[in-house]
This record gives sequence, C-alpha cells and structure tokens, in this order.
Amino acid sequence: MIGRLNHVAIAVPDLAAATATYRDALGAEVSAPQAEPDHGVTVVFVVLPNTKIELLEPLGKESPIAKFLEKNPNGGIHHVCYEVDDIIAAREQMKAAGARVLGDGEPKMGAHGKPVLFLHPKDFCGTLTELEQA
Ligand code: CO
Repeated sequence: MIGRLNHVAIAVPDLAAATATYRDALGAEVSAPQAEPDHGVTVVFVVLPNTKIELLEPLGKESPIAKFLEKNPNGGIHHVCYEVDDIIAAREQMKAAGARVLGDGEPKMGAHGKPVLFLHPKDFCGTLTELEQA
C-alpha cells in the first residue's frame, strides 16, 4: 500500500532563517514562502531530487504547530507524508490495523490540493504520519 515518501515536514520558529540554512548551507532549491491560512502555517518547499522538505512556520493564533514549537522551541520534525493510491482504501486498512485517524476521519484537501489524512503518532512509532493520495 505505502508508496513514495512525499515530504518530511519540519516545524521552525523562524522560517527565513530555516530557508537560508537550506538554501545557503545545503545549496538546496527553495520556494518562496506560501501562506496557507486554512492550515495555519506558512510553508517553504525545499525541493530535493527524491522528495521534498516542507518548512512550516505558525500562521495565526490557532496554528496546529504552535504547541509543537512550545515543546520544541528550536523546531523539529513534525510529520512525514507517504503517498497512497487510494486514500479511502488506505484509511480502512489502517483502521483495521488499529490505527487512529485524526479529526473526523474524512480526508481533507492538503497543501498540494490532494486528499490527505493524518494518523495518530502513538500508533506510528511516535511520528505524526500523513497519507496523501498521489
Ligand atoms: Co504534510
């Protein structure tokens, strides 16, 4: 079922500084910052040959990554995202395996305009896990 690693999302307290680190120190190709008010984050995409890194900075008071940054003030890996062919089939398979789907269990439109689901970190080796229908 599991497909490519679509992205690794890293929450950061200072998006400009994080972008500069990836661009200048690592020589990575980075996008312009993109505000996503629906998701409560501003994102910079770091394009790597085999996957992407998403640098996430909180946007607005209700940002879902604000608490994470309180606990991890220097930033840290927030989630990983794997591609699946069929998000509903993947959800049913994960539920049958005992995984908890966050929210109301229905896929949401993700940052790339594709349906996504998040699985509870306690069921995934302590890692918040996103599934995206590729
Ligand atoms: Co993501």
